[in-house]
Amino acid sequence: MTSIHHHKENTVVTSIRELHIEATTRCQLGCPACPRTYAKDKLKISDIDINVVIKSCKNYDLVYFCGDHGDAIYHPNFIEIVRQLKKNYPTIKIYLDTNGSGRKIDWWKELVELLNEHDRINFNIDGIESNNHIYRKNSKWETIIDALKTVKTYSKCMVFWRYIVFAHNENTVSEAFNLSKELGLNSFTVIESNRYDTFEFLRPVKSLDKIVKELND
Ligand SMILES: C[S@@+](CC[C@H](N)C(=O)[O-])C[C@H]1O[C@@H](n2cnc3c(N)ncnc32)[C@H](O)[C@@H]1O
Ligand code: SF4
Repeated sequence: MTSIHHHKENTVVTSIRELHIEATTRCQLGCPACPRTYAKDKLKISDIDINVVIKSCKNYDLVYFCGDHGDAIYHPNFIEIVRQLKKNYPTIKIYLDTNGSGRKIDWWKELVELLNEHDRINFNIDGIESNNHIYRKNSKWETIIDALKTVKTYSKCMVFWRYIVFAHNENTVSEAFNLSKELGLNSFTVIESNRYDTFEFLRPVKSLDKIVKELND
């Protein structure tokens, strides 16, 4: 996220172009290995102030909404934040990481009509209808599918599906991949978790190489 230009010997100029913002500590899900879930009762709910976002994003090319303890789609004014960002900085790029669950079609429509082909939404969906909720606890499958369809219908923004492989979803990767193609998404990525040591029951049996090979066969 930081580009470092070596201009001449002994001189390093750092130029920070991208800003990562945790918009809120709210989330409707309870993914077992998320820091938010560990924090439980100690977690204070807080939402970033829109004016802070606007002021902070001056001079940046890209704003990445992800974070460690929440999901930006549950910020009560997230659409307004995006609207004001685009109004104040028309060329700014917006990337969002989300579980995609629980927002209505109209909400997604209003959000993504503000986005263009340089923006990106990473949907973190770890499975298909029958098993995504096992890790993405409390997620509502129909609302995720509605979100994907709405984004593809009303926006040119890039839509990526990221699938973390776990023991309970390692055999449904190809179904998810096919669904991503049916929905016309821009990318489908299978990734391993760096947190299998914390919960052994999550550790897949198959290697990532095997899963990818099966997809290509
Ligand atoms: C705390 S989440 C915040 C963003 C959003 N709530 C979401 O889940 O996409 C930050 C990132 O952690 C990832 N994540 C959640 N559980 C994980 C796990 N067990 N291993 C690796 N990454 C994980 C999410 O997919 C997301 O990209
Ligand atoms: S959806 Fe994201 S923020 Fe919410 S519990 Fe899961 S990993 Fe944590």
